[in-house]
Amino acid sequence: MSWDHKVAVVTGSSSGIGYETALTLARNGFLTYATMRNLSKSDNIKSVTNKEKLPIRTNQLDVTDDGSVNNAIRTIVSEAGRIDVLVNNAGYGLVGAFEDLSIQEIKDLYETNVFGVVRVTQKVLPTMRRQQSGIIVNVSSGAGIFGYPGGSSYVSTKFALEGLSESISYELEPFGIKVVLIEPGFIKTNFANSMVVAKRAQNPSSPYSQMMQKISANSNQMANNGSPVGVVSKIILEAVTSKNPNLRYLAGKDVETWAANKKTMSDGEFYNTIKNLAR
Ligand SMILES: NC(=O)c1ccc[n+]([C@@H]2O[C@H](COP(=O)([O-])OP(=O)(O)OC[C@H]3O[C@@H](n4cnc5c(N)ncnc54)[C@H](OP(=O)(O)O)[C@@H]3O)[C@@H](O)[C@H]2O)c1
Repeated sequence: MSWDHKVAVVTGSSSGIGYETALTLARNGFLTYATMRNLSKSDNIKSVTNKEKLPIRTNQLDVTDDGSVNNAIRTIVSEAGRIDVLVNNAGYGLVGAFEDLSIQEIKDLYETNVFGVVRVTQKVLPTMRRQQSGIIVNVSSGAGIFGYPGGSSYVSTKFALEGLSESISYELEPFGIKVVLIEPGFIKTNFANSMVVAKRAQNPSSPYSQMMQKISANSNQMANNGSPVGVVSKIILEAVTSKNPNLRYLAGKDVETWAANKKTMSDGEFYNTIKNLAR
């Protein structure tokens, strides 16, 4: 089968990495289902689709909602007959020192970043297993490789995604299904604007307030030097069109440096470089 007959589903396509990935896949011949939780945000992608005559369809899909996920995947399978690529991209960040996080804030984050991926993937797998082919791309992060102060909740969701993906890759290989983790560094998207700051962390009397201010200043500076979103969509395209994709792909110069440091430095040395973020 040639690439231009393959069917791709992308979650969180209203902005950022999901938006760019949906366009990139469609421009490279995939019939692409650009899903998003709020279809009123589909105007931009629809206008590019019309202008460039791209094979893109938009569907409502909220990864935290069983009914919405079931509906979207059922519709896609009945329309397209197959799903070759699933890009689990929808996600957001939560910042705050661990003691300042409420259990509800942490649960909400896991509901999107972890259970969202579980929900959509479990719905898609029977179709891929029947086809004896498919590729699942999970958008992790540099935060799936190492922890940092103020990031315990977000980092732990991405570590969960890494462990889940690595484990299911063994289970799915016999059925011809591949699993890929994308690990972006700082990427210029809406991510920083959509970031939730834990309620208690916003209180200046929090014992972690000073530490969090320093982390925030340092990460804002790194975010300003972030990579353009096309860096990630290009790597996703490379992974899904490769005969033998890797399990992990780094995306961005910054994360390449951190990952190399993590590999070559002792735990103590690496700890000290990250500790500087809070200085
Ligand atoms: N930008 C970075 O620096 C960076 C670095 C590493 C990893 N990542 C990861 O990249 C992924 C995409 O983020 P981004 O940078 O492209 O940020 P973004 O521009 O904020 O995009 C996030 C997307 O996820 C969607 N989303 C959030 N909750 C959802 C839900 N319940 N159901 C469906 N869609 C939902 C958002 O939809 P709405 O428009 O409706 O909010 C939006 O389309 C995330 O998993 C993030 O963790 C980002």
